[in-house]
Amino acid sequence: MRTAAEPAPTIVVTRRIPDPADEVLSRYGRVEYLEDSGVALQERIGRGDPIVVLCQLTDRLTGDLLSAGNVVGVSNYAAGLDNIDLDAARGARVRIGHTPDVLTAPTADVAMLLILATARRAIEGDALMRRHEFSGWSPELLLGSSVSGATLGIVGAGRIAEATARRAVGFDMEVVYTRLRGAFSEPEPPIAASAREVGWDELLEISDFVSLHVPLAPETRHLIDAAALRRMRDSAILVNTARGPIVDEAALVDALRSGGIAGAGLDVYEDEPRTADGLTSLDSVVLLPHLGSATRETRAEMARICAENAVAFASGEPAPAEYEGAS
Ligand code: DGY
Repeated sequence: MRTAAEPAPTIVVTRRIPDPADEVLSRYGRVEYLEDSGVALQERIGRGDPIVVLCQLTDRLTGDLLSAGNVVGVSNYAAGLDNIDLDAARGARVRIGHTPDVLTAPTADVAMLLILATARRAIEGDALMRRHEFSGWSPELLLGSSVSGATLGIVGAGRIAEATARRAVGFDMEVVYTRLRGAFSEPEPPIAASAREVGWDELLEISDFVSLHVPLAPETRHLIDAAALRRMRDSAILVNTARGPIVDEAALVDALRSGGIAGAGLDVYEDEPRTADGLTSLDSVVLLPHLGSATRETRAEMARICAENAVAFASGEPAPAEYEGAS
């Protein structure tokens, strides 16, 4: 708790986020926008006055940065928190906020979009049309693989895993999932009434589609590596809407080139915005630029929660979406 003698923290916004964030922040008043001042975050923190950082997943809040000044809270404009050193935040008693829940449905939509677009070769079909090469219906034109009746292996059992499972059941897919026990806690109930829980190896071996829905943590970095890709069917399609480094992207390119797996639908990349050598020249992949939460409605809700988290941290009040593991 702040004493009366201490100055009220300033909310330092690294980069503007959509409405209604400015309106929420302006009610608090003490707000600075680094993109307007051109001051680097490190320099701003180094001044030592109490601040709350409102940042994006592209800002890296390292332990050094968190302890360089007087950071009271960090409000991340994202659900994922892998850009923040959470151990250091806990040690320095920095409160951490994020924006879960509101992006569950749109991210699950993108997982389904990638499953469908990759299986049904939608991007190749679109490209063919734009090259004016469609010469009429043909029995073997761009044959894909059926989604209905196929097995979807969901890695994870959290909110987005569950929402993806529900959508997949609606497409008549068989859903299996694995919780990666021991890696981090996940709710115990089945993620969809008809979904069957299986072990990691079985999931890789029986799935026609493997969709990743776990946070990035030391235990999940390169979870999909060359060995995991070798276990997958050569007809299988990998979908990643979670975090890029969960997949060893160079190993994925090798597996796609050698026919080890059939395709991949990716929304996230190991070293964003870079992609692994060779990835963008493969026809068997559908690549999106990290669009999971990118609907106007979702980004506005994320902005509201993120701004309210920041104001709550600066005022010493309970926040709408505080990450409990941090403080
Ligand atoms: C998140 O919030 O973690 C998404 O990846 C971007 O909205």
